[in-house]
Amino acid sequence: MAEVTRFGVSIEKDLIDKFDKAIKKENYSNRSEAIRDLIREKFVKEEWTTGGDVAGTITVIYDHHRRDLVNKLIDIQHDTHDLIVSGQHIHLDHHNCMEIIVVRGQAEKAKQLADKLRSVKGVKFGQLSMASTGKNLI
Ligand code: NI
Repeated sequence: MAEVTRFGVSIEKDLIDKFDKAIKKENYSNRSEAIRDLIREKFVKEEWTTGGDVAGTITVIYDHHRRDLVNKLIDIQHDTHDLIVSGQHIHLDHHNCMEIIVVRGQAEKAKQLADKLRSVKGVKFGQLSMASTGKNLI
């Protein structure tokens, strides 16, 4: 386990009270773990903004009856196959499909892929979840 250090922080009472309330709702058992997660989040954000090696998921929802749309989504994914680790297709109902595409690679390329998929005409919902390879997180 990594060496642990303790430090004191000066903070407005109202602000820390608000923070404590918020993390209690999120089920944190103590401040330290919540603060550690905030710090990690900052570094994950940085990985995405500085063009680092990242991992994440792209979720898209569309109507599969639109064959042109389905073909377009497949073409885009084949063009970026080096970035895609895997994909899962869920038939939500008679019309709607959900695809969860796991990506790993350069942040900018992952963002571009998400934008490309989301902007295809007929895609009802598209969202990139920016996660991390975990390599640089402690
Ligand atoms: Ni389907």
